[in-house]
Amino acid sequence: MYEAFFGLRERPFDLAVNPRFIFLTPRHREALSTLRYGISAPRGLTLLLGDAGTGKTTLVRAALAEETRAENRTVLLSNPTLTRSEFYEFIARGFGMSEGAAQSKARFLIEFQRAVQERHGAGGLTTMIIDEAQSLPDELLEEVRLLANIETSTAKLLNLVLVGQPELADRLNQPSLRQLKQRITLRWQLAPLDLRETAVYVASRIRVAGGNAGEIFTREAVASIYEASGGLPRLINVICDNALLGGFAAQVKPIDQEIVREICRDFDLDSSYPFDEPGSPARQPHPSTLHPSAGSGRGNGKLPRPPGHVDGAGSEEVDRRSPPAPVTENPDRGELPAPTFGQDTKKRKFFFF
Ligand SMILES: Nc1ncnc2c1ncn2[C@@H]1O[C@H](COP(=O)(O)OP(=O)(O)OP(=O)(O)O)[C@@H](O)[C@H]1O
Ligand SMILES: [Mg+2]
Repeated sequence: MYEAFFGLRERPFDLAVNPRFIFLTPRHREALSTLRYGISAPRGLTLLLGDAGTGKTTLVRAALAEETRAENRTVLLSNPTLTRSEFYEFIARGFGMSEGAAQSKARFLIEFQRAVQERHGAGGLTTMIIDEAQSLPDELLEEVRLLANIETSTAKLLNLVLVGQPELADRLNQPSLRQLKQRITLRWQLAPLDLRETAVYVASRIRVAGGNAGEIFTREAVASIYEASGGLPRLINVICDNALLGGFAAQVKPIDQEIVREICRDFDLDSSYPFDEPGSPARQPHPSTLHPSAGSGRGNGKLPRPPGHVDGAGSEEVDRRSPPAPVTENPDRGELPAPTFGQDTKKRKFFFF
């Protein structure tokens, strides 16, 4: 809809988990390495935690896409709110076991143990990844614990990866689950993006979609996107996509803070952090990123909505954190490049992206 207006080939902020749009901060890289490491050899139990929308499923899919060894077998369970029999049926079918194993737990355990041992003998790995694991019913967490016990005298045979929101860690602290907790050999917690990472994330998605971030958002707009989203990629996408729609409807380019704030009001997100006050994330001018560009010249009225637009309903709790620490630029160490954005003409503020 708005692609041609902003010089884009496709929508940059689609919510689908698309590997072409993956963006990795140094901390994301470490999380991805942890996952890769966790599924590349018998490791026991790997735990990946993070708030809703931080990018856990995105990283799991990225790690799985790289896992191409034919002798390995991995099953991903993304919706674990199952009964015990449905759980066994799902993994039996996922691992290509017999119809009998899908219907009977006893049959499942006999076949599964044999298959896992044979695969191990042939140099392969059996891995089960459970996403949204914070929703696993207690009885299934217990089953997972029992499956994690499958081992030879020298090695754990089933690799388990539990991916979930932080309440999963709380559940693993329950005395009844301490045995499962003791089996955790790798653990990583994803954090939201900071201001600079948010800016690079936005610029990176726009670049992949064929556009130029400096012509699409002002830095002030990006600062508001960061504030309202709390650095959560899912919320960043929702705000940016709607801001593009709003900018297109109002024929405004680059999108300024006013448009973003209006979208955030519609979504009941607070984007009014005083970035230019002492102690705020506003910093000294950064000469390499100052690209003054034409402002919108619009008034303060409500944004017109394009036909067919429906405002989103829900919003998520926004994580309020202290101002972000600047990220040093050093491409040799895989650190983040400085993105370039336009500038609101009404209020001149400088942001250290
Ligand atoms: N590293 C990333 N690179 C590019 N896009 C990302 C990244 N992380 C998250 N996203 C975007 O944010 C959206 C939410 O990410 P994802 O579904 O992976 O979050 P999650 O942590 O699994 O959330 P939940 O706990 O609700 O399942 C994705 O659809 C994706 O578009
Ligand atoms: Mg997820």
